[in-house]
Amino acid sequence: MSDGGVMNTETFLCRAADVPDGGALKIERAGRPPLAVFNVGGRFFVTDDTCTHGEASLSEGEIDADECVVECPWHSGAFDLATGKPCGAPCTIALKIHAFECRDGALYLLG
Ligand code: FES
Repeated sequence: MSDGGVMNTETFLCRAADVPDGGALKIERAGRPPLAVFNVGGRFFVTDDTCTHGEASLSEGEIDADECVVECPWHSGAFDLATGKPCGAPCTIALKIHAFECRDGALYLLG
C-alpha cells in the first residue's frame, strides 16, 4: 500500500516484551540474513545476527550491559552494539546495525 506515492517500508520485527532485559532475540527473514534484537537495560539495538568473523549467531552471545557490547559465542570476538564496531579480537569487520522504530510496544525495521 502506498501513501501519496511513498512506499511504507517498515517491517515488524518483534514486540519489545519478547526480548528480555540483558538478552537478545534472533529474527529470521525469508531470503535475507537473520537479524538480532538486543535489549540492554531497556535500550534496544538491531544488528545482523551473524558474526562477521564466522557463522556464529550473536543473539546467543554474552551481553556486557556496562560496555553495551556483545561477545560472540564462538571465538569471543566482540562488537559495540551502538556502532557495530569490532572491539574484541579476532573480529575486525564491523557488524551491520539497522535503523528501527519502537512504537506501541513493538519494534519495526526501517528502510
Ligand atoms: S565466529 Fe564470532 S568471533 Fe569467530
